[in-house]
Amino acid sequence: MPARRVAVIGTGYVGLTTGACLASLGHVVVCADADPHKVERLREARVDILEPGLPETVRDALDANRLDFTGDTAAAVAEAEVVYLCLPTPMGAGGAADLAAVEAVAGQIRDVLPPGCVVVNKSTVPVGTCERVAALLGRADVAVVSNPEFLREGHAVHDFLHPDRIVIGAADRDTARRVADLYAELDAPLVLTDTASAELTKYAANFFLAMKLSFANNLATVCERFGADIADVTEGIGRDPRIGSAFLRPGPGWGGSCLPKDTHALLTACDRAGVDFPLLRATIETNVTHQRRLVERVAAACGRGADGSLHGVRLTLYGLTFKAGTSDLRDSPALAVARLLRERGAELTAYDPALHEDRPDLSDLVDLVDDPVRAAEGAAACVVLTEWPELRDVDWAAIATRMAGHEVHDFRNLLDADRLARAGLIWQGVGRAAAP
Ligand code: UGA
Repeated sequence: MPARRVAVIGTGYVGLTTGACLASLGHVVVCADADPHKVERLREARVDILEPGLPETVRDALDANRLDFTGDTAAAVAEAEVVYLCLPTPMGAGGAADLAAVEAVAGQIRDVLPPGCVVVNKSTVPVGTCERVAALLGRADVAVVSNPEFLREGHAVHDFLHPDRIVIGAADRDTARRVADLYAELDAPLVLTDTASAELTKYAANFFLAMKLSFANNLATVCERFGADIADVTEGIGRDPRIGSAFLRPGPGWGGSCLPKDTHALLTACDRAGVDFPLLRATIETNVTHQRRLVERVAAACGRGADGSLHGVRLTLYGLTFKAGTSDLRDSPALAVARLLRERGAELTAYDPALHEDRPDLSDLVDLVDDPVRAAEGAAACVVLTEWPELRDVDWAAIATRMAGHEVHDFRNLLDADRLARAGLIWQGVGRAAAP
């Protein structure tokens, strides 16, 4: 495979992973970012996101002179054969994807792209964006290709180097193959298609994952009502390869920087196109009703008065990040649950193993404490919201002596009920019978 000269615009977790991993495959990569402070740090292999293996991959590529960072987008693309756009597409007006960053960069590079180069969009964008970027570039000699990424935060390097599939959408097969050649070292099935299909594939994938989770969370409630066990039911169905066992663990709702924004963007795009997609609407609504139901449960156990008010009730929350293995709080379901508890008047303390250094300011919502035992002081109940494995091994006996109540609402089904019982605590999971 010939080494290519590649530019990557945007060094978020997708862009940085893409740049560093393409360099590790032998390509010569320049990554551009508008934030000069970030560029300076990355040149020293200082990676500010929690992503296993990424600092090492960046360091190795820098040492091999196959990776560089710049604040100058035009300079980054000047020599490139392939230009990757890895830009944020946050939730904008009415739930639609906000394409301002993509459009701004298209304007910055249109006159400096080398003749015949390929622009590859990796950002999650609505169908038609490749065409829009091509129109903004106005360059008949430059092809715009969709190559969505399916990386999970916390597994980005692994997912990049071991993809389940590589989806490339282009106007013609030759252009798609030119991009596919960059990944020749990777052993993955190729899906070569048109740009609209590739763009939609990304939304369809994230919607399907969210749908599985809403299904599992709803099924958990059904299990509770019928005295069934969600772990056994999901194992029983998941062994059928047509269903699959992944992504069926109930939790406090799904969140993160992708699933909420992408499901909303797809729904908005469908609405605007006059296509009804009730399953998608239900998937999003179920996430909200599920969280309300979990909060009801806590209020029923510790609340005061008939309306389950939590005024004057102290609760401690374990885990605030949107999942374990990341310090990312964006659209975290834990914060959504915390807000619902606050609305009912609860006083909240919180402990999260990823939020010691660089502590975010969450003072409007929770009192963030560095130590789980101290966080439990005076709490009527403990609510587990992120599946950090280390929470299993905190000093539950000491926590029990500090708490005012005895209940642990484990919304990730993480903890061992017997171990908690020995500490004098009562475990309540999701979709499972309470400990005897
Ligand atoms: C998600 C997708 O999994 C990736 O394939 C996709 O590339 C990425 O979005 C993206 O579009 O960039 P990520 O946001 O890192 O990746 O998070 P996930 O691991 O998918 O978790 C999403 C949410 O579902 C989290 O809140 C997590 O706790 C929850 N979850 C996941 C469950 O509650 N139960 C499960 O069984 C799995």
